[in-house]
Amino acid sequence: MSASTVAVIVVAAGSGTRLGHPEPKAFVSVGGRPMLAVAVDAVLGMRETPHLVVVVPESRVDEARELLGPVAAAADAPLDVVAGGSSRQDSVARGLGVVPHLVDTVLVHDAARALTPALVFDEVVQAVRSRGHGVIPALDVVDTIKRVDAGRRVVETVDRSELAAVQTPQGFPRDALDRGYATAAERGAEYTDDAALVAAIGLAVDVVPGDARAFKITVPADLARADRLVRDRAGHAREAGSPGASERFAGAGASVPVPAAPRIGTGVDVHAFADDQATPLWIAGLEWPGERGLAGHSDGDAVSHAIVDALLSAAGLGDLGSVFGTDDPELAGAHGEVFLARARQLVEQAGFRIGNVSVQLLGNRPKLAPRREEAQRVLSGALGAPVSVAATTTDGLGLTGRGEGVAAIATAVILPT
Ligand code: CTP
Ligand code: MG
Repeated sequence: MSASTVAVIVVAAGSGTRLGHPEPKAFVSVGGRPMLAVAVDAVLGMRETPHLVVVVPESRVDEARELLGPVAAAADAPLDVVAGGSSRQDSVARGLGVVPHLVDTVLVHDAARALTPALVFDEVVQAVRSRGHGVIPALDVVDTIKRVDAGRRVVETVDRSELAAVQTPQGFPRDALDRGYATAAERGAEYTDDAALVAAIGLAVDVVPGDARAFKITVPADLARADRLVRDRAGHAREAGSPGASERFAGAGASVPVPAAPRIGTGVDVHAFADDQATPLWIAGLEWPGERGLAGHSDGDAVSHAIVDALLSAAGLGDLGSVFGTDDPELAGAHGEVFLARARQLVEQAGFRIGNVSVQLLGNRPKLAPRREEAQRVLSGALGAPVSVAATTTDGLGLTGRGEGVAAIATAVILPT
């Protein structure tokens, strides 16, 4: 076992009051395994093998050693399991107390952020080393934030460009964290996170881009979401087999490979022309004035729908009908862009980004060529990836040839992030 110069302290000693489970939160099952084991997978997937320190409730120390000992040994990572304290800060302090002298960079991570990818740990280590001070991952705040008074009356809107929603792992040069914790203990001060504690002694902390998957499992709905994501990715891994695997989710004893290769999906959609003349035609994300509209619960945009099916299929997330429901009142008359934006979000949440999409419209009308560029712009904008649009007639054959409706066929490529 080689000596590590990076340590990761995974704090898992909380009780999980808000989750409301009889077991301590880190021992609750996520996708069939304890949350702590899922969190540790990513730590052991780091480029540089760390010294792993796990902080658990006192009554769970032996159990955690049994759970994590084999996987840490398989990854050649030194492991310490220690009992936590009554606050998170206390638990981190206890973990910090067993970090070996050789370690120069320490990351502190919440077991509750169990789905944080290994890449985030690597990026934090690298940033701490290159900048020489504390680094924390954070996401932009997307909601509008209001300051309210004690009577819940809105006082003002806060400028959200000045805000960041911070996550873990938070990384620091070892002596900065040691000094921060020593000073906090002297002062008897409690801080909300490690960055605040280090900033309190006047040391710099930067934010680096966080990851949506690093969300904290706090309430039951978070657990349900994490559970789904873990089951989905295990399902994909099993389908994909092991060749080319770049990342391993090492379970207790077993390890499940996850493919780094691109994934491909196809989608087909068909819509009949509406009986009336009043329905506007929406296809390929554009309105086509003067053309006969398509029938359907939404706007009938077969091009957008075929793309959504291709994307969902590539990510193994089902299809348009199963994800959106064909009778969702919110989607009545919805335009293709709504579905595309949502599909993109789901694909990204599942750990992929869109490579490109190719879609072909089959039908006599509308004549796509004059507006092809425009359609490509709108569809590419909705997906944040190139979309090429083609069209063909079917030589007068079939339902599209007879002018009864249109069809579209799409292919999507997605890449693991
Ligand atoms: N934590 C810890 N020791 C404590 C309290 C919290 O190690 N005394 C850890 C938790 O296990 C968790 C992380 O700190 O991984 C973030 O805390 P939080 O999500 O608030 O977890 P809990 O404190 O367990 O949950 P709750 O606040 O709902 O009780
Ligand atoms: Mg807590």
